Amino acid sequence: MRLQIFDNHETLSRATADILLRTVRENPRSSIIIATGSTPTLAYQLWVQDLLRQDIPTDELMIIKLDEWGGLPMDHPSTCETYIQKHIIQPLSLRPDQVISFTSVAADPAAECDRVYRAISALPSIDCCVLGIGKNGHLGFNEPNTTWSTVPHVAKLSITSLGHAMLQGDSRDVQYGLTLGLDTISIAKSILALASGSEKTAIVEQALRGPVTPQCPASILQTLPQSIVYLDTKAAERITS
Ligand code: GLP
Repeated sequence: MRLQIFDNHETLSRATADILLRTVRENPRSSIIIATGSTPTLAYQLWVQDLLRQDIPTDELMIIKLDEWGGLPMDHPSTCETYIQKHIIQPLSLRPDQVISFTSVAADPAAECDRVYRAISALPSIDCCVLGIGKNGHLGFNEPNTTWSTVPHVAKLSITSLGHAMLQGDSRDVQYGLTLGLDTISIAKSILALASGSEKTAIVEQALRGPVTPQCPASILQTLPQSIVYLDTKAAERITS
C-alpha cells in the first residue's frame, strides 16, 4: 500500500484524475471500476473534461459500477446508476456495451450478481479501481463484519450506509446493496482508495493503522501492494500527528 496526502480535496481530485487519464492513454481498452459517493466526483469531472479536451479515444473503455442500492428504480436520482450516467457515461457518450452495471431492480438479485460476475470474468483485465473509503470503513457495500473473500454479491446494508448522503435522508425503498466483492476489487492492477474531510479521520486511522480485520473492510488495503491511498490533510489528521 502506498499513501499520499494532499493539501485539499481539489489537489487530491486532480491527482486522481491524472491517474485515470494515464490509465486510458496507456491502454484505451482499460476496464475501470467506478465508486460513487461524494469523494471521487470532482476527480471524475476533471478526468472526463481532460479526455474530451485532449480528444483521447474512449470507444473501447469499459466502466464497471462498483455497487448499487437494491430496490430503487434505476433512474431514481439517488442510484449509483444515475451518478455514473451523469458524471461519466453520458458526457463520454459511452455505449451500453461499454458498461457493466448491476441493475437496482433485479427480480433475482443473486442471479444479477452472477451475471455481473460472468461479465467481469470475460474481461482481459481490470486495470484500475476507484474506491471511496466509507464512513464505517466499507469499500463498496462490503460492510463491516462480513466475509472478506467475495465476488459480486447481495449485501445487507448497515445503518451507516443507509444514512449515506446519496439517499438524501430517504432510505425507505432501499432493501439491500449489490456490490463487487473484495476478491473482485483485489484483482485490479491498480487500486485507488480515496478519503477526504474530517468525517473520515477516525476511520482512516483505523483502516490504515489498525489491525487488518473484517471489522473494517478498508483495512484490506494494507495487504494489497497495488493499492494507493489518497487522503486530504483533514482525513489524514490522525495519521500525520
Ligand atoms: C457508498 C457508495 C460507494 C462509495 C461510498 C463512500 O457506499 N455506494 O460507491 O464509495 O459510499 O461514499 P462517500 O465518498 O460519499 O463517502
